This record gives sequence, structure tokens and C-alpha cells, in this order.
Amino acid sequence: MLSELFDRLDTLFPEMVGIRRDLHMHPELSFQEERTPQRIAAYLESLGLHVRTGVGGRGVVGLLEGGKPGRTIALRADFDALPIHEESEVPYASTVPGVMHACGHDIHTATLLGTARVLSEVREELHGNVVFVHQFAEELMPGGALAMIEDGCLDGVDVIYGAHVLSTLPTSVVGLCSGPAMAASDRFDIAIRGRGTHGAMPHLGVDPVAIASQLVLNLQLIVSRRIDPLKPAVVSVGSLLAGNAFNVIPDSATLSGTVRTLDEEVRGFIEEAVCQIAESTCKSAGATAELSYQRGYPTLWNHPDETERLEGIARRLFDEEQVKIIPPSMGAEDFAYYLQRVPGSFFFVGGGNSKLDATFPHHHPRFNVDERAMGTAGRLFIAVVFEHLGKGVAAGDLEAAAAKAVG
Ligand code: NI
Repeated sequence: MLSELFDRLDTLFPEMVGIRRDLHMHPELSFQEERTPQRIAAYLESLGLHVRTGVGGRGVVGLLEGGKPGRTIALRADFDALPIHEESEVPYASTVPGVMHACGHDIHTATLLGTARVLSEVREELHGNVVFVHQFAEELMPGGALAMIEDGCLDGVDVIYGAHVLSTLPTSVVGLCSGPAMAASDRFDIAIRGRGTHGAMPHLGVDPVAIASQLVLNLQLIVSRRIDPLKPAVVSVGSLLAGNAFNVIPDSATLSGTVRTLDEEVRGFIEEAVCQIAESTCKSAGATAELSYQRGYPTLWNHPDETERLEGIARRLFDEEQVKIIPPSMGAEDFAYYLQRVPGSFFFVGGGNSKLDATFPHHHPRFNVDERAMGTAGRLFIAVVFEHLGKGVAAGDLEAAAAKAVG
């Protein structure tokens, strides 16, 4: 059974490539997606699924009802692009100036649509339902996941899986990480109010540039001196703005940064420390600090049982060197919200290939991945659905499928 489905997925590969390249040529920014969800909905409707559009805003949810009663498994793909001007020279490069699929969400979408098509053709064999969650706005906080959950996309769902392609992993390698796999991501903005003066007479003012410089260094002491070195944490100041003349001390300076953690206790500690250090650094120099600290996506925590299940399937489907246990990443993902509500796991699929010039990091203007990653992710999706809903699958079926599987 599974090997037939994998064959079917292979025959759909050109169609998936077509969808992916079409999406790549027509990228849409987070919270502005229109064409993309329309295309997704039309495709899912053509498969005979129950389709809900506008879920949580711009999301699309397709429900595939199996022929027999059983559990409900959700698979999720995100579909937004980034405010980056594409510099790659592929024939299917972005046609929208300043907007680009530079994180592979076009790949995720095409993979899930191909998977939906394969599974829709064997719906009678399924003991339960499959929910296809096509999510808008992953790249920009507050993200689309929470709004889609509040609008019911997880109602009745027992377990959820999602995948992200990675240009930093070789093509067709599957990366799994149990427990904390991606970081909580918080943002702070600090406005320092000093008092402007002539650059030649600093004693007549309160210099926010000097204070901001000191503040950046003081913030670096949080991770290096106050956090247990065995607990991962990052405090990065990415923006520092002050003044516009070389000989004038300005009134104010602003700085903004990101905090990444894998542990809630560390997260709370850093939040407090940033506030306290901003205040005390400014106060000791005679300035005032105005601070806003926003909590973003929580830590993405992969449920050990579901991750183990994926690993078991992957090890039977793929060669040993294709399945890797990878360390957590300090990147963030709003898939974390789904995993706070239902068990599941978020896995990674390699798309890096130097022969295709596809090794640039994510969010790079020349980002690209090997499209064969869609076949790997699709196989894992199909196999995990059958593991949950395919009561009729013989034990040796995975092995038979593996023998026929082309990496
Ligand atoms: Ni992404």
C-alpha cells in the first residue's frame, strides 16, 4: 500500500514542482496573502475535501474524511513570504519586487498539497480523518497559528505534524529533535531620554549615545555572566539609532533587540534582567529609559513520543545516514502554539545542494533549495498518517515501501 502511495507521490512530483514555482514567482507578505490561499483552497476543493477559508484571517483548512471512523491527524504548512528582494537567477524567480519566498514556505505548501492529493485518492482506506492546516503569516509576529487555533483549526485534532525544509541540511536528510527544538523569541525596544547639547560641551547635556553604548555591553553580561552556561540563551541588539550630526549630542537614542531561550525560567529571568539593566544604566547616567518588552513565539517543544514515532518511521523508510538527530535551533516558529495544545512533532528536511547553488542560508536574497526535499517530506507525512490511521496496513508494509523508496 505505502509503496504504491510513494509511487503516486513520485508521479505527482512535476505537479508539485509546478505549484512550488508558481508560488515562488508570486510571493505574498505575511498578513497580506490573497492569491496564495485562493490557490490552495481551489486545489483542496478539486480533491473533494471540505475546505474552510479565512480561518483566523487568511488561513485555509482542508478536511479529508476517511472511509472508517478513527482519530484525526493534522498536517501543517505555512505559506507566507519575506520582505527580501530576490537575487537568484532561477527562471522562476520572484516577480514581485522586494518580496521573496526566502524560507521555503512555497516548498512546504506544495509538499502538503501533493500529500493531500495522494491521501485523498485512498480516503476509503483511512480509519480517521486528516486535517490539512495551511497557515498564513508565520514570519511576522503575532503569527497566524494562534488566530487559526482560536478559529478552530485544531478542533477534534488528536495529533499534529509539521515540517520545515533546511538549506543547511543536505538534500533528503531528515532532522529530528525531541523536546525543546526551537527557541522562544521575545523582542525589546528601549528609548533612552537624555538631553541634547553641543558636541563640544557634553557636560551641559546627558549623552544618550554614550549611555546606549554602555547599555549594549551591559546587556551582553546577562548571558555571559548570569545564565547557567549549560542553558542556551541569546540577547542580540540588532538596531541602535541616535542623532544625525557628527558634532551634536542628541536628545534620545533607541535600541531594539531579540531574546532567544529554550527554557521558561531562563526566559523570565532575562526579561526581568533586561528591564532592570535598562533602567539602572540610564538612571546612573542621569537619563530615563522607556522600555517595551514583548513576548513572541514560545519554545517549540516536540513531544518525545511523537518524535520517536517519526524517528521509527524514518529509520525504516530511509538509509541510516539520511536520518539525523539534530540539536535545537535558536530560530523560532509559531508551530510551537499547536504543540502547546495537542501532541505532535515538527521535523526538518534537508534541501541543501551545492550543485544547484542551493546552500545559501534562510532569508538570504539567493536562498533556494533542492525541490526533491518535497518527496522526502511527503513520504514522511504519508507514512505517519498511515501509522495513525491505517489499521489495515501490514507490519511489513513500511519495509516494502522502504525497499522501493528512492531517496
Ligand atoms: Ni520558515
